[in-house]
Amino acid sequence: MLIRNRRLRTTEALRSIVRENSLTPDDFIVPLFVVEGTNVKEEIASMPNYYRYSLDLLKHEVKELWDLGLKSVLVFVKVPDELKDNKGTEALNPNGLMQRAVKTIKDSVPGMLVMTDVALDPYSSYGHDGIVEKGEIVNDATTEVLAKMSLSHVKAGADFVAPSDMMDGRIKCIRELLERENYVNAGIMSYSAKYASAFYGPFRDALDSAPGFGDKKTYQMDPSNRKEALRETLMDIEEGADIVMVKPGLCYLDIVRDIREAVQVPVAVYQVSGEYSMLKAASEKGWLDHDAVMLEQLTAIKRAGANVIASYFAKDAVKLL
Ligand code: PBG
Repeated sequence: MLIRNRRLRTTEALRSIVRENSLTPDDFIVPLFVVEGTNVKEEIASMPNYYRYSLDLLKHEVKELWDLGLKSVLVFVKVPDELKDNKGTEALNPNGLMQRAVKTIKDSVPGMLVMTDVALDPYSSYGHDGIVEKGEIVNDATTEVLAKMSLSHVKAGADFVAPSDMMDGRIKCIRELLERENYVNAGIMSYSAKYASAFYGPFRDALDSAPGFGDKKTYQMDPSNRKEALRETLMDIEEGADIVMVKPGLCYLDIVRDIREAVQVPVAVYQVSGEYSMLKAASEKGWLDHDAVMLEQLTAIKRAGANVIASYFAKDAVKLL
């Protein structure tokens, strides 16, 4: 035997010096769910150990994240039903929950990178990511609102906006408005290859944002498609995206690899709510070793080519690193 591959696996010290990929706190973006009220920390039923916070408690949560070395957050808000309409009017309220959440985080931890979700669904009486007319999701009127929403988040202090809606041309529309208003350093992390996935179920519970009719297949991508992900992503970069994203994670690592090899901007992956819930459920039953499977999954996402990972496991993971 001339070559023995097992030789490099003999001890942990040796394995660690030849390891090709490792996780660090710098890899993560932490999704945060925010609600109105005071002293609220509600566990999301389908996402064990994940919570919605009111602003007063959010302050403490972001301090804790910062102390763990987690330096970026992605903010989502749960909007009261009475404020929802077809056009997402509340999304533009300068004193809306998102705008106040951004200010609260920046006041509490000024160094935190604050990214905001930009989409109509949490604000929409139909639970869709766009304006509905005659049962259809209209594109161009929606991108106008998304641009105004982005501007409003940036004015509140957001560093990055993260459009998660999958309308055509929204990156251009957002970028042009931000430039025109002189917010030249505001970043855009585009959900550029976002699939019409069944893994978003628990997230829709968390925000009470499930579509009231139909599904999201006329705007989110068909899970069967690969080339289309590249086309979407290249277009978003042309339109001014700074970071592109693939979503969900595990089932789409081939797409992550394709995109990592094709583009020069950072690539993010969103390990979504259903991926989180699956592991929580299996480990509660004693069927999977939670921490080991979590780290294996996150490492696989990184190995596939992710530069950043938005994950509900971020806090659990960094505690083990
Ligand atoms: C909505 C949005 C969704 C997620 C992020 N932004 C759900 C959807 O498209 O219905 C899903 C995130 C997750 O499942 O963790 N614009």
